[in-house]
Amino acid sequence: MIVVASKNGRVGIAAAVDVLRRGGSAVDAVEAGIIPVESNPEDHSVGYSGYPNLIGEVELDASIMDGLTLAAGAVGAIRGYEHPISIARKVMEELPHCFLVGTGAERFAKELGFPTRDLLTEDARRVWHQILEEKAPEVYGQRMKYLDSIRRFVKITADPEKPNETVNFLAQDVKGNIACGVSTSGWAWKYPGRLGDSPVIGAGNYADNRYGAAACTGRGEMAIRCATARSIVLYMKMGLALAEAGREAFRDLDALVDPFAGSMNAVALAPDGSHAAFSNMPEATYIYMTAEMGEPVEAARIFVPPAKPLP
Ligand code: GLY
Repeated sequence: MIVVASKNGRVGIAAAVDVLRRGGSAVDAVEAGIIPVESNPEDHSVGYSGYPNLIGEVELDASIMDGLTLAAGAVGAIRGYEHPISIARKVMEELPHCFLVGTGAERFAKELGFPTRDLLTEDARRVWHQILEEKAPEVYGQRMKYLDSIRRFVKITADPEKPNETVNFLAQDVKGNIACGVSTSGWAWKYPGRLGDSPVIGAGNYADNRYGAAACTGRGEMAIRCATARSIVLYMKMGLALAEAGREAFRDLDALVDPFAGSMNAVALAPDGSHAAFSNMPEATYIYMTAEMGEPVEAARIFVPPAKPLP
């Protein structure tokens, strides 16, 4: 039994492992691990206190996948609900669909009785104002009227520190079943309605008991274009070892012509419980914890240098 997560999953990994110790499923563990991250006011890339879009709304994306059945659920651009991972799980379990977005996702959450919450904290609101004022004064104050011109400012207004962080959780339960989950507030100062890779099954998240699981953080547009999570699992299916499968998927990213190319990271888990993580940035880390461990270990990601320097 093991849980593997991106580093910001530290606030939830013990809860996830505890679920596994009590005989819970990998899907239960992934959800239990992500919920505390979504509630963490210190994390401005996920859930409550996530950085907003260009017009000051916090739009959240999440997905979950069960490697036993290949069932999946996702929500995108959902506002006013603190735990999109739980709503994504309900999409997977209650609907004949995989993916709800925007007002449809909000309607579904309301029907199921999920509580609403104002997700924009004072801290996030202050930074949002500050960055717009400093970097896009032409837009600041006119944002509701001039979405067309705002589009030009998406790149320069993104907080350079945290444009597309996210949380990843992978788990394997006592029966050997694998699941994966991802949750994010996406690219800070994004164009309203923008979806990254996190809610897109195959791009930011994929699990298949037979071959393994993978999940991504970083510039989601790149993972969408290369289907990165599914690629890692598919490369394992085709016979590559875990580390080589990740490297191959990252080499795929190098082929992209992308003036906004940025950091890309992935965590991956094989059916035998072995794991690895990858980054195109040096010195990146991830965490893991088994049922026998008292606390998580932080381990180095495999550095896969990009073929071209990142802009
Ligand atoms: N990887 C998260 C995002 O691009 O939104």
